[in-house]
Amino acid sequence: MKKHLFCYFASALLAASCSSAKEGQQVATVKDHFKDDFLIGAAIPVRHINGEDPKADSIVSLHFNSIVAENCMKNEVLQPREGEFFWDDADKFVKYGEDRDMAIIGHTLIWHSQLAPWFTVDKDGNDVSPEVLKQRMKDHIYAVVGRYKGRVKGWDVVNEAIEDDGSYRKSPFYRILGEEYIPLAFQYAHEADPEAELYINDYSMFNPRKREAYVRIVNDLKKQGLRIDGIGMQSHIGMDYPALDEYEKSIVDFSGTGCNVMITELDMSALPTVQMSADVGSMAKMSPEERKEAMKKFDVYPDGLPEEVSKQWNDRMAQVVALYKKHADKISRVTWWGTTDGMSWKNGFPIPGRTDYPLLFDRNYNLKPFMAEIIEN
Ligand code: G3I
Repeated sequence: MKKHLFCYFASALLAASCSSAKEGQQVATVKDHFKDDFLIGAAIPVRHINGEDPKADSIVSLHFNSIVAENCMKNEVLQPREGEFFWDDADKFVKYGEDRDMAIIGHTLIWHSQLAPWFTVDKDGNDVSPEVLKQRMKDHIYAVVGRYKGRVKGWDVVNEAIEDDGSYRKSPFYRILGEEYIPLAFQYAHEADPEAELYINDYSMFNPRKREAYVRIVNDLKKQGLRIDGIGMQSHIGMDYPALDEYEKSIVDFSGTGCNVMITELDMSALPTVQMSADVGSMAKMSPEERKEAMKKFDVYPDGLPEEVSKQWNDRMAQVVALYKKHADKISRVTWWGTTDGMSWKNGFPIPGRTDYPLLFDRNYNLKPFMAEIIEN
């Protein structure tokens, strides 16, 4: 096994990154261990960029060589009203990455969620015409990609365009422009920064119907002569899904298009898988007392992960990372959707107020055992 130990002696970084490290001791880092395989990324929230979580900052600076904006580059944040842009947080995010010499990833240009309410409607609230939406997409993409031209390595151009059955999501973009909105977004992004890498990104990419749909879409984009560099597999996974053979098939088939495969939003919930319509739907209708009782079924480890479950989580994550390593020739980046368990979106979704354990570092900023084992041996 390749092994690349990179030595750090800064006690502040050591203390934050590995509870067992002593001052002056050498620390193996995740990014350096995988430096010949793929970039190691983390999604960064605004509070982190603003210096409100210095321990997370130490972890990211030490172990990661790529960052992606968790929220601050989304449409509703950057252009809340037509022509009015809010750049402060995104500017700080890009500078944060540059100061640490990181590969900076922009997320995301065209997505139905966290979309400014005005973006696809007229003043009466009706869908705008195809021509108006094209112009708005072009203006937004030109402004955002153009502002960070030469500084952002690559963009999630289109996010979550396909349903689990392989059909197009009936988003306002699709409703108004049809399938054409995807190639248009890629065209505009390329025009705005011809050097930037361009990606298409979605969840449940292990699903065979989604896999087939994305292979078809990417091949079509390429046939049209459009630039597309990467297929992003978000990889919000659980202890009981996906089956790793299906996950692997997607890595192989996506790579077959000639694109890089990117694991873009990795986290693995340690909690029982929740059925969205049955469980979340019924909870929404409950009284506070009933909800408190129901939470016992869903929020099963509020005071810490039992040793046995922690072992299962670490064993499965070791298998997942071994799969990435096996396909390191196809995978160019593995990005975790956050750094520590305490800051993960999974604590609030799909049921708010749970305590989950999905990320690479625990709530005390310690590297999880499976990864410590990989990089220290
Ligand atoms: O900023 C406001 C704050 O002012 C307010 O007090 C608070 C009250 O709820 O909300 C804050 O906004 C929240 C925002 O995260 C920032 O923390 C939103 O409610 C919340 O909905 C939003 O959630 C984000 C989610 O995308 C929205 O869809 C998560 O942080 C973010 O991790 C998540 O990321 C997505 C990827 O972009 C795409 N793939 C799935 C992934 C997970 O959902």
